[in-house]
Amino acid sequence: MALAYTYEEITARELKPAFHELEGISRETIDAHYKLYQGYVNKRNEILGKLAGVDLSSANQVYSELRALKVELSFALGGIKNHEIYFEHLGGSGGDPVGLFGDLVKRDFGTVSDWKADLKATGMGGRGWAWTAYDWDEGRLFNYIGDAQNTFPVWNATPLVALDVYEHAYFIDFGTDRGAYIDAFFNNLDYDVVNDWAQRYGVRA
Ligand SMILES: [Fe+2]
Repeated sequence: MALAYTYEEITARELKPAFHELEGISRETIDAHYKLYQGYVNKRNEILGKLAGVDLSSANQVYSELRALKVELSFALGGIKNHEIYFEHLGGSGGDPVGLFGDLVKRDFGTVSDWKADLKATGMGGRGWAWTAYDWDEGRLFNYIGDAQNTFPVWNATPLVALDVYEHAYFIDFGTDRGAYIDAFFNNLDYDVVNDWAQRYGVRA
């Protein structure tokens, strides 16, 4: 018995031109992100192909095979989703967020600089990612921490800002100075994109 589902292969999204012109973050670094992202897209397609072929009627070993494939799938999907947010919301001119996201930040963190300080500290502490997400159950923004691509997302929370703090995100441009990279990240954020997402998802200030 095979799994009764179909899937479609996806292809890597094109990078928007503005993402090639970041301030303080080089093209070499962008290429490093993009190569990894393409790898996650390929991996996702490959794993879904394998899952479609798993024979559920075979012996117990199928469980460990499923486990390995589904854990690997969560890593690949995390690598895709995290990077698609990252690529899309950089290429702007930073500054302080205004509009809906700005209102949410002020409501839930007090001030913009408190939000930035908290996200920066979260990014300094995480091994791979820090996200500002809207938690639908809590009804507020929170800066969640991530280690790998698939740790530790929280159910029913929607990421609006995704800060990549894997070494490939900063080592070429800033060496070991992750903090300087995070400052550059803020300077390149496009809050129009973030506001657009928040509006589309129906987040209310
Ligand atoms: Fe990355």
